Amino acid sequence: MLTRRRFTTGALAIAATVALARGSIGSAPSRTLGPAPAPRDGRTVAVDLIAAERLLALGGIGGKPLPMWTFDDGTWPMTIRLGLGDRLTATLANRLPREGETTSIHWHGIRLPNDQDGVPYLVQAPVAPGAIHRYDFVPPDTGTFFFHTHCNSVEQLGRGLMGVLIVDGDTTEPYDADTVLVLRDWHVDAAAGAFTPFMTPRGAGRAGTYGSLRTVNGAADPEIPLPASGDCRLRLINTDTTRIMLIGVEGAPAVIVAIDGVAIAPVPLSSWLLGPAMRVDLVVRSPPEKGVARLVDRANGQRVELARFTGAGRAQRRSRFAPAPLRAGRIPEPDLASATRIEFTFHASETGALRAVAENAAGGPLGALCTSARTFWGINERPWPERGHSRLPPPLAVLERGRSYVFRLKNRSEFSHPIHIHGHTFKLLRSTKHKRPVHFTDTVLLLPGEEADAAFVADNPGDWMLHCHVIEHQETGMMGYLRVA
Ligand code: C2O
Ligand code: CU
Repeated sequence: MLTRRRFTTGALAIAATVALARGSIGSAPSRTLGPAPAPRDGRTVAVDLIAAERLLALGGIGGKPLPMWTFDDGTWPMTIRLGLGDRLTATLANRLPREGETTSIHWHGIRLPNDQDGVPYLVQAPVAPGAIHRYDFVPPDTGTFFFHTHCNSVEQLGRGLMGVLIVDGDTTEPYDADTVLVLRDWHVDAAAGAFTPFMTPRGAGRAGTYGSLRTVNGAADPEIPLPASGDCRLRLINTDTTRIMLIGVEGAPAVIVAIDGVAIAPVPLSSWLLGPAMRVDLVVRSPPEKGVARLVDRANGQRVELARFTGAGRAQRRSRFAPAPLRAGRIPEPDLASATRIEFTFHASETGALRAVAENAAGGPLGALCTSARTFWGINERPWPERGHSRLPPPLAVLERGRSYVFRLKNRSEFSHPIHIHGHTFKLLRSTKHKRPVHFTDTVLLLPGEEADAAFVADNPGDWMLHCHVIEHQETGMMGYLRVA
């Protein structure tokens, strides 16, 4: 029913969408960040990640359970929670039910040693069915992260092979709630209890193949109770393989307090573009008891309700909404004056010649390196793999360890690309299309035709992937790596 209130929020949503076409966040000034946290001498947290098929039902959807691929027997997705300074030892056992289905785990956004980065062939052998692999590292940063397979990702991630990783220690004052919201679609036929194709040539050459079922924490439009009238932290993670969302909160004031795990001085949220793999931490003033607020996606001129927040219990706060900021991140500041500038162009590569090369190269020992036989995309005129599947292509660039770089990331295509760097975190300085505050990020969303400057200190030695996180784009050529030596 269209009540007056719903109508008003709908009208506001339209206004907000129009505003976002110009790129938009609010502009009110805000409280400054707390001092960066120092890692303590932590404990060791040991987890078992048993990659296997499990029949799981997605919440509130009806239909039959799905043959999901997950890391544990609990509710999807599993969550690992550490304090800053804690060591994670994660033992991956590959029990996937298909011959030759290798896997690995990439710890997205974590600045870890290269040999823990989980990219098969580049930094580790792929983990064969029946085999075990141990990851062992101390995450150097607080924040909201996730981990996922880096092999046959379109299907393995499509079936759910991922988890959440939270590193605590970034608050200046406690919030009234701290809730993780994992956003994603599923490629499913719910009635049949079966997945539909995760990848289509048409999708791969365009914006990607969208799923048919939207969920938050594995449930369609769930009700999420929050303590009434509280300052509640919501950690949004877009774990979808394809979809770029335009996130808004209706019925409650909200600010952005972190992007990709790294704090920013709070800015009011009107709408925020959240591409695959991107995270944003919000603080909302939750509704009073029995009140309702909504999480919505306003992308492409539509309005999709993703979840409902309800106020529960007695009011936590009566003060004006001015939520506490987080502590500053620990990402090294690039030296812009001395930085070396490099251009990276992201483009379609749909030429007959490239296609022929890729099609000839199907199969072979590198076939499992998350690539398919088709090549639709490239970086700097080089689709991955450049020279067939028998060996890795050369790096896109060799960077000098300790030097600062400014990458000019140019999207020369008609589709959007969330560009992810491994092992480092960019400082996004400016871009030509959508306005964002200067912020740290491991995944820069480039709109069609957009150019962005992203700076960082190449302080982590090794070979690090640079790729689009629309998985179909990644797997059809928009992937390369940087060597820091
Ligand atoms: Cu989240 Cu190389 O990826
Ligand atoms: Cu892309």
